[in-house]
Amino acid sequence: MLLEVGGLVKRYKTKDRQIVEAVRGIRFTLSAGAILAFLGPNGAGKTTTIKMIAGLVRPDDGDVTVEGHSLSGRSGQALRHLGAVLEGSRNLYWRLTPLENFEYWGGIRGLSRKTARDRGRELMREFGLEDKIGSTVQQLSRGMQQQVAICAALIHSPSLLLLDEPTLGLDLDASDRIQDYVLRLAHERGVGILLTTHQMEVAQTLADRISIIQNGVLTLEGLKEDVLARFTGSSYVFELAEAPSAEARLLADDLGAAWTGECEFRAVLDRPTDVYEIMRALEPCAVVRVMRETADLATVFREHTRKPVPVENIREVTA
Ligand SMILES: Nc1ncnc2c1ncn2[C@@H]1O[C@H](COP(=O)(O)OP(=O)(O)OP(=O)(O)O)[C@@H](O)[C@H]1O
Ligand SMILES: [Mg+2]
Repeated sequence: MLLEVGGLVKRYKTKDRQIVEAVRGIRFTLSAGAILAFLGPNGAGKTTTIKMIAGLVRPDDGDVTVEGHSLSGRSGQALRHLGAVLEGSRNLYWRLTPLENFEYWGGIRGLSRKTARDRGRELMREFGLEDKIGSTVQQLSRGMQQQVAICAALIHSPSLLLLDEPTLGLDLDASDRIQDYVLRLAHERGVGILLTTHQMEVAQTLADRISIIQNGVLTLEGLKEDVLARFTGSSYVFELAEAPSAEARLLADDLGAAWTGECEFRAVLDRPTDVYEIMRALEPCAVVRVMRETADLATVFREHTRKPVPVENIREVTA
């Protein structure tokens, strides 16, 4: 198995001596050539998990193995097989050029200067950025910086790539370019990719598998098709002719309405006949349209994270 994450735990101590348990025993695997989208609300523990896998934050418990090598082992073999791009392309020195960055990061990963330069040029060519190799990173646009950051993370040809919000703040063109590249990297070259994103359409395009983390616990895990299928057929869109009364709106909320406008909402229903219950709640408001939806990942995510994490998984920890 390319990546095995076994029972990772991370506690942070805050200034007022409280302990935040950011990650509470996460366990999953990732195989070569697969793309896993690691989704979750702000503060759920995604970056902390990625940092632990990248060897940047030491876990309080649990272990990570990459290509069978334990991250806690002394050999450094595990790190040799992985590359990581953290939030905001922080794996680059901004005063250096891409080429100098590649030499530096390649050197750390045990490459000769020449190998790092050649490989860096090749990667920049794949992104169509070869003419930017000699400008300092800070002179590049944000989209270019992110693409250079990906090149730097791939300089030693790792078999596992970790991407924390790779398309955040990028325009459509830069975002598409990165997404195309990620797909090719996984499906043509067999690199395993773990990525986080809040852009559900990005996750839906890229992922083979979906994981959702809430409060440091994995609460959903599966093949993308299975995850989507689980919600398809039970998701409905309602459109009303006018905004309902506050009272009617509350009644609809209780039945699972998630409002997307004054007169529009979605609802994931347990039984198809629940449509009538919602309509009754909204009476006498005129209905323009009721449509069954094919669930997309945004709906799945919204619906899944609306439910609180099981109580047994939430523990108060104090110093
Ligand atoms: N260095 C730190 N010291 C103290 N607490 C931290 C530290 N880093 C993260 N945390 C806390 O750990 C929890 C998880 O944070 P993390 O950054 O992993 O979340 P995330 O899922 O990446 O969120 P986002 O979607 O906003 O990027 C949060 O409660 C956060 O405040
Ligand atoms: Mg984060």
